[in-house]
Amino acid sequence: MEQQKRYGHFDDQHREYVITDPQTPWPWINYLGNEDFFSLISNTAGGYSFYKDAKFRRITRYRYNNVPMDNGGRYFYIKDGDTVWNPGWKPCKTPLDFYECRHGMSYTRITGRKNGVEASVLFFVPLKKWCEVQKLTLTNNSSETKHLKLFSFEEWCLWNAATDMENFQRNFSTGEVEIEGSTIYHKTEYRERRNHYAFYHVNTAIQGFDTDRETFVGLYNEFADPQAVMEGKPRNSHAHGWSPIASHYIEVTLAPGESKDFVFLLGYIENEQDKKFESLQVINKDKAHALIAELDTTEKVDKAFAELCEYWDALLNIYKVRTGNDKLDRMVNIWNQYQCMVTFNFSRSASFFESGVGRGMGFRDSNQDLVGFVHQIPPRARQRIIDIASTQFPDGGCYHQYQPLTKRGNNDIGGGFNDDPCWLIFGTVAYIKETGDFSILDEMVPFDNQPGSEVTLFEHLKISMDHVIKNLGPHMLPLIGRADWNDCLNLNCFSWDPNESFQTTENVSEGTKAESLMIAGLFVVTGKDYVALCKKIANGQWSMVNGQCDFADEAARMQKAVDEMIEAVKKHGWDGEWYLRAYDFYGRKIGSNECEEAKIFIESQGWCTMAEIGAEDGMVAKSLDSCKKYLECEHGMVLNNPAFTKYIYEYGEISSYPEGYKENAGIFCHNNPWVIIGECIAGRGNDAWSHYAKILPSYVEEKYQTLHKVEPYVNCQMVAGKDAFRPGEGKNSWLTGTAAWMWYTVSEFILGIKPDYDGIRIDPCLPETATDYTVSRKFRDAEYEITIHPNGAQKGVKSITLDGQPIQGTVIPYSAGKHVVEVTM
Ligand code: BGC
Ligand code: NOJ
Repeated sequence: MEQQKRYGHFDDQHREYVITDPQTPWPWINYLGNEDFFSLISNTAGGYSFYKDAKFRRITRYRYNNVPMDNGGRYFYIKDGDTVWNPGWKPCKTPLDFYECRHGMSYTRITGRKNGVEASVLFFVPLKKWCEVQKLTLTNNSSETKHLKLFSFEEWCLWNAATDMENFQRNFSTGEVEIEGSTIYHKTEYRERRNHYAFYHVNTAIQGFDTDRETFVGLYNEFADPQAVMEGKPRNSHAHGWSPIASHYIEVTLAPGESKDFVFLLGYIENEQDKKFESLQVINKDKAHALIAELDTTEKVDKAFAELCEYWDALLNIYKVRTGNDKLDRMVNIWNQYQCMVTFNFSRSASFFESGVGRGMGFRDSNQDLVGFVHQIPPRARQRIIDIASTQFPDGGCYHQYQPLTKRGNNDIGGGFNDDPCWLIFGTVAYIKETGDFSILDEMVPFDNQPGSEVTLFEHLKISMDHVIKNLGPHMLPLIGRADWNDCLNLNCFSWDPNESFQTTENVSEGTKAESLMIAGLFVVTGKDYVALCKKIANGQWSMVNGQCDFADEAARMQKAVDEMIEAVKKHGWDGEWYLRAYDFYGRKIGSNECEEAKIFIESQGWCTMAEIGAEDGMVAKSLDSCKKYLECEHGMVLNNPAFTKYIYEYGEISSYPEGYKENAGIFCHNNPWVIIGECIAGRGNDAWSHYAKILPSYVEEKYQTLHKVEPYVNCQMVAGKDAFRPGEGKNSWLTGTAAWMWYTVSEFILGIKPDYDGIRIDPCLPETATDYTVSRKFRDAEYEITIHPNGAQKGVKSITLDGQPIQGTVIPYSAGKHVVEVTM
């Protein structure tokens, strides 16, 4: 294997990834903002900002899949004599004397040095504020006085990111700005129905500005050589239509050794309808002035930054492990949890692979994301569950996605993904176990957001279960609908028309018979959870205020359904060495040794082993062995094997991908943890660990920086599988359910610290080589310091002491306060 070039390294003490070469194999990005106002920022300061919704409220413009890649962002141009450079190297690409980008927890710091001048920019979104701060520090490290010309640059998006890219006959006539002192306001469409505008401010007097892109850049120039910058002369242009931008021009003189700070602020404001204007066509700037006043000095900005750092300190203090293995500790304590916050915030909407216009929040995605996030900020998780459940239909089906701005179901994609309902149970149970807050079950939640249709959240869970039971196929297995977790297994699509969507097309009229073993396993796992929840209520742990139900009966009813499902899987879902994947429309097996290609799939192995279906008959062990034998490769486990080599009309999108990519035998990292959890439940710690380490970013970063291509500090959705042209190449980084599943796997199943209704269950599953480790876990109003002594065991807790006293069983009963726990395996 060729020697892999390195582009950066971890700095655990600062919780940063330090990029030392701007020419990373792909833009390596970070996310700014924790609620409402968000930005994406690459290691060269490319990217964009939006308010809540990357589609409907895009603040700055970004052109995806551009040439060169990642062009456009917040740029500072420094003109020092005849040399023009940027702290982040791009867009001018003037060779720098020093370059560094530090991606941290919701902030990024980019530093460049050229000819004795250092420019360091700290980018972050302050807590609870609708703005991005860019604190630029210019330092003269040379021995002569420097006269610098500084230009800032942002390009406005005309709010709706979709129409911004296509409706030019209108867009080129609507752009409007206002300039007031050092603030440039973007107010396109504010004259009509919008009650929001944006602004770009700097906390110093400016000597010029530009707001019209072509005037600033020049029609035949580029971001790399804007005319105004190259000539060192702002045009003071006032945009009318075309493409409005915001650029400040500042003349800076720095004595040797002198340093100056500039606070740039990209802000977003909403006004009440009757307070929109100050006078005819002049926008009301009161709120902008107020926001600027909160952040107009270095001290105020530093304070806001310190608050952000404290916020992350507190979040990352909730679960902390010390194993002595840096590669594991940094993922558990820093990056995995960080990525979980990001996926919670964005679902699958905006990344460098998700354009922000295609998808909003996914029903199944957001429920899974919850599991990685619920311990961080439970009240936000609670609200998310209610929002998600509000997009359910009365029959238990649900919208597959909803828009974060409106919280309404997305009609373009609609419903019919038959795994979706089960995930609501998965998310809700995780929330209750973390918080002990059963009252969420009493919340009145509408269907399809229709006022007047409210029933309790518990009722939503019940109809979710029922949706599966009422949609069983000929083998008494769950009907798959448009697709289950695998969006590309479209067994009712039957499309020969490339203009049809695989997900929403159903070219059959006589009803569908295709069934999913993945949903079967998911139903058993979530069904057991549901039964346990009903029993808790029946036993008086919680008395429902709003809903009437005999919970003991309900538990028995669902237990019966779960048992029947288990029987159906054993009877019709077992192929001899592994679980089948599905039955197609015609009742033929998918994922069977009898098949020509794709004889085995990962999803059903994961879910049916987690559900322990047929464990007593050796099915679980055989299935896990088959995963090792047929799915595992150097970079992880592929989704199916062998890969499809041709399009299969009856299967849909899955067979549309070339071999080894995406759902066709890619390493779809999301579902590797399912098998790993299956391994953990079966007590096979060595196997669990070896699967886990293969897709753990810190291990990958050490070995495959160039090959892997995407950010080495987070998981990506897909790594090219063994059948691909370049196995090991990663794609679709950041926004993937892998984040939550990796977290769930390592925190609860490998390290074995599982929140439960009445306390914390201790049940690690480790490689034999594991040594003693300690987990600090804040849990409700308690704080546990848990030390595990594995003694070479892979599984099995022998004894536990709580504050020096032995306890029975493996659940540490919850009680507020600080506790010390010792666990011997
Ligand atoms: C992708 C899936 C994704 C789906 C969303 C497909 O093209 O391969 O991973 O879930 O689109 O609609
Ligand atoms: C990505 C989608 O967001 C997710 O919902 C789906 O389960 C996977 N792709 C697999 O198709």
